[in-house]
Amino acid sequence: MSVDSSWPPIPDARGCRRVLFVCLGNICRSPLAQGVFEHLIQGRGIHNQFTVASCGTGDWHIGQPPDPRTILVAERHGVKLHTRGRQLDAAMDFARFDLILGMDRRNLEGIRALGCPPQIAGLFLLYAASTVHPHLDVPDPYYGGPEGFDEMYRLILLGSEALLDAMLEVR
Ligand code: 4NP
Repeated sequence: MSVDSSWPPIPDARGCRRVLFVCLGNICRSPLAQGVFEHLIQGRGIHNQFTVASCGTGDWHIGQPPDPRTILVAERHGVKLHTRGRQLDAAMDFARFDLILGMDRRNLEGIRALGCPPQIAGLFLLYAASTVHPHLDVPDPYYGGPEGFDEMYRLILLGSEALLDAMLEVR
């Protein structure tokens, strides 16, 4: 299935304040993306303006805390994680969030497969707001070594900064 993950004209992001980060298991990438994004908006003193959450397309880790390796890399960068695994609920989540951001293209396909509305607005790659790498996937680090978790943090930080800048029209 091909998925259009291109970012809309930037002004379309104005007013979007309810953000859902989605990965596969909801124990590595999307909990970290939620934590990093929350950290960024707290740093700017604008956290009260946002609703931020995360979930996975899979059901293996429902109710579980993030992977210990994810918690470790977050702690090293002063980011607190507080999520429990949750599976995407298409009916509820597409109504509750303005932006639904998958970590990679397979995520976007998985999200669509769970029954999102055919003409959905607001479903994008995390990196869609990046002017430099708008089609970049954040790779799944789960089956790899510790260096994959450092790379995950680096990519998620850059993608989240680009996303927030686009939402605030800082560019
Ligand atoms: P995530 O990583 O999608 O970034 O949370 C994964 C976590 C668990 C599994 C796959 C990916 N798993 O197969 O259990």
